[in-house]
Formats: sequence, C-alpha cells, structure tokens
Amino acid sequence: MSKSVAIVTGAAGDIGRAIARRLADDHDIVLLVDIDATAAEEAACELGAAERFAALKVDVTSEADTTNMAKVAAGLGVVKTLVNNAGAARAVSLHDTTPEIWRADNALNLEAAFLCFRAVENMLKASKGSLINIASVNGMAVFGHPAYSAAKAGLLHFTRLVAVEYGKFGIRANAVAPGTVRTQAWEVRAAANPNVFEEARRWYPLQRVVDPADVANAVGFLASPLASSITGVCLPVDCGLTAGQAELAHTFSQSDHY
Ligand SMILES: NC(=O)c1ccc[n+]([C@@H]2O[C@H](COP(=O)([O-])OP(=O)(O)OC[C@H]3O[C@@H](n4cnc5c(N)ncnc54)[C@H](O)[C@@H]3O)[C@@H](O)[C@H]2O)c1
Repeated sequence: MSKSVAIVTGAAGDIGRAIARRLADDHDIVLLVDIDATAAEEAACELGAAERFAALKVDVTSEADTTNMAKVAAGLGVVKTLVNNAGAARAVSLHDTTPEIWRADNALNLEAAFLCFRAVENMLKASKGSLINIASVNGMAVFGHPAYSAAKAGLLHFTRLVAVEYGKFGIRANAVAPGTVRTQAWEVRAAANPNVFEEARRWYPLQRVVDPADVANAVGFLASPLASSITGVCLPVDCGLTAGQAELAHTFSQSDHY
C-alpha cells in the first residue's frame, strides 16, 4: 500500500504549519513546501519525526519547482491532499499597485495554485483525493490589497473549475476563506499600529479574530471523508465577518440588540 501524502504550500507560515499539523492526523506523510527552505525545515522538525514531516524548497510560482515538488511527493507515496496555502499581499490600494505588483500578486495567489494542481493531478486522480485552496474574505468583498484580492477571487473560481471538470475522477476541490488571522503576515501592520487586532475585532460578530488552528480544522474537515459530497464550495472561516456587521445593523435598525 502506498503511503498517503498531503502537500501544504507556504507551510513555514503560521497557517501552513497549523494545517500541516492537522493533516498529519489522517495522512501518513505531510510534505511542507516553502520558498524559505530553512523555515520549512524548522517547521517540519518542530512538528515531528522526519518519516511523518518532510520539507522541500519550492517557489510555487516556478513551473520547474512545482514539477520537482510532484516528483519528490511521488517518491514519498501518493498525494491525497494538496493545500494551496502560499500567499501574500504587496500593495494596500490601487493607487499603490504597479503593474509589477499586480502580476506578482496574481502569480503567487492564483497562477501558483494552478501550477501546483496540474503538477500533482495524476496522483489526485489515483487517490481520488482533494484540493483545498486557501482563499480569503478579500476575495469575497473589498477589504484593501486589491491585486491580492482579485487573485483570491480568481482562486475561488479556479476552485469551482476544478470541482466541475475533475469531479468525474473523484477529485474534490474546495476553498477556505479566512478572515483576519494573527500571523507573521501582519508583522508590519502590527508594528505600525499595535492595536490593529483590537480594532479589527469590533467588525467580527464573534468579537475575535481567527486562529491558525481554526483554518486548519476547516481544511482537515474538507480533506476528510466527512466532506465526501462537498465540492466546489468556499467555506468562510471568518468569525462571521461576511455574514454582516452588528454596528451597521444597530445603525440601520436602531435596536440595542445589535
Ligand atoms: N493572515 C491572515 O490574516 C490571512 C487572512 C486570509 C487569508 N490568508 C491566507 O492564508 C495563507 C497563509 O497566510 P499566512 O498569514 O500564514 O502568511 P505567512 O506570510 O505567515 O506565510 C506564508 C508563507 O508562504 C511562503 N511563500 C511566499 N511566497 C512563496 C512562494 N513563491 N513559494 C512558496 N512559498 C512561498 C512564505 O515564505 C511563508 O512561509 C495565505 O494564502 C494568505 O493569503 C491569511
């Protein structure tokens, strides 16, 4: 019997590491890939034994690297789950967005997901496995970072494209859309405004931001047989942000129940 492999991209980051930890519950091996080789190695070591957690340097925007990623994964077993988690945002407004930033954000947040999927699709067919794309609430409404957001909106549609075209092979494709998650991606903003998470909290119906483990649990569910008839969906993990805002409901209704 081949070993089951889960690939997590951007796995050296806080969300990626939490996903890798969660997927080890029902996969034999988790392959942590990241452009930062040292950080990926450290994350794999921190998570557990080398037979369970492998690390690989991959630039997910490079076709050569994603082809190599598939080769390395095939040497470990059969890919059952691919999580496209690597992502980043560069410019905060359209006024700040240069053509280079627009292209780079699309390459990392959208095109890379396509490259990684095509690289491992034969193994996903063999395992009747699943694809999980880490999108964002930014792909559902406007919260800043336009190039990143447009790419994440594209990622949601890419998820549906895979679900419809590859469903006949037993491959499922779903997305998770986190709201604010306290990770290293927030370092610069948290340094500029130490209250950034406190200020964000008031817009969330649950009055808190998201933990990396919340995202990981949603991924674990979507990758599992519990979700065997779920494909083509986007699961927001956003403490209620996209459901609505209590402050606005209060203004509109003038009811103190909000
Ligand atoms: N943190 C949040 O508030 C938040 C909210 C919504 C969605 N997300 C999404 O969750 C995912 C993880 O975010 P995070 O906050 O953990 O980010 P992070 O910056 O902490 O981690 C991202 C990881 O991706 C890696 N990476 C960057 N470019 C890469 C490349 N070309 N190839 C391979 N790896 C690369 C980085 O080295 C890093 O380890 C991203 O897709 C992000 O858009 C995050």
